Amino acid sequence: MTTLAHISDVHFGREDPDLVDGLLHALTLARPDAIVISGDLTQRARKSQFRCARAFLRALPPVPHLIVPGNHDVSATNLIDRLARPLKRYRRFISDDLTPFLDLPTVAIAGINTVRLLSTKDGRINRNQVAIAREQLGRAAPEAFRVIVTHHPMDLPIEDLKHPLVVRSAPAIAAFSASRVDLFLSGHLHTGQTVVTSSRYGQAASTPHFSAVVAHAGTAVSTRTRGEPNAWNLIHLNHNPESPEISVDQITWDLKKKKFLPTHTTSFTRGPNGWSLTRSESVRQDT
Ligand SMILES: [Fe+2]
Ligand SMILES: [Fe+2]
Repeated sequence: MTTLAHISDVHFGREDPDLVDGLLHALTLARPDAIVISGDLTQRARKSQFRCARAFLRALPPVPHLIVPGNHDVSATNLIDRLARPLKRYRRFISDDLTPFLDLPTVAIAGINTVRLLSTKDGRINRNQVAIAREQLGRAAPEAFRVIVTHHPMDLPIEDLKHPLVVRSAPAIAAFSASRVDLFLSGHLHTGQTVVTSSRYGQAASTPHFSAVVAHAGTAVSTRTRGEPNAWNLIHLNHNPESPEISVDQITWDLKKKKFLPTHTTSFTRGPNGWSLTRSESVRQDT
């Protein structure tokens, strides 16, 4: 079993210090094998905010971690900076690597920067980025789980007509199907959802027998919630070849108990047509 902690949209500058402490404590207890952070580390890409984000990263449990930027990590006020030196502060304070890759024995994780300089909100993915991520995942052990991380969502519940997907997500999904990607992770919407790609892309001629799990994380520690409490995902990858499983546990901030607790679990198994939902249930809390 491999465990990934997936956190997103920490938005330093709008963080709640109690939640930051609670998240660090919960991550220590969870003992993940790796930590993924899917963007929006800051609120307005200010130096002071990046310094706080960097201090947070240094306080994380000492396991491999992979980070991608979000749209809030690009300067919103300085247009010249945005055009001439994109993600300058992100690269200085967080990471200079915009094509991060973690190649662990049981899981390979490729990060893609979907932030675009002139579009402050919506994300985009291009052919070159897809090719780089596919080449990275091609180095993984055959039995390793394959994971793609973006800030903006590659897929959403089919009934969500309000939020845009990453521009060019459909050809990217088709290309990633050939790389047998198991899981897409993202954030940006500050709400947690888990779906399979076959609901939207299963009818496409290019991806008829492909179905990957897509998990979005809410905002982990910021006060910018959108109708849901602060949350993050603890993801279990079960490598048993006879019954491989992905379980996404939503870990939610409990206002009364002042700690992060599991509230919902969603599980998927892999068959000949990819991953399909097997279980979605709330987690009962002891009173
Ligand atoms: Fe955000
Ligand atoms: Fe965002």
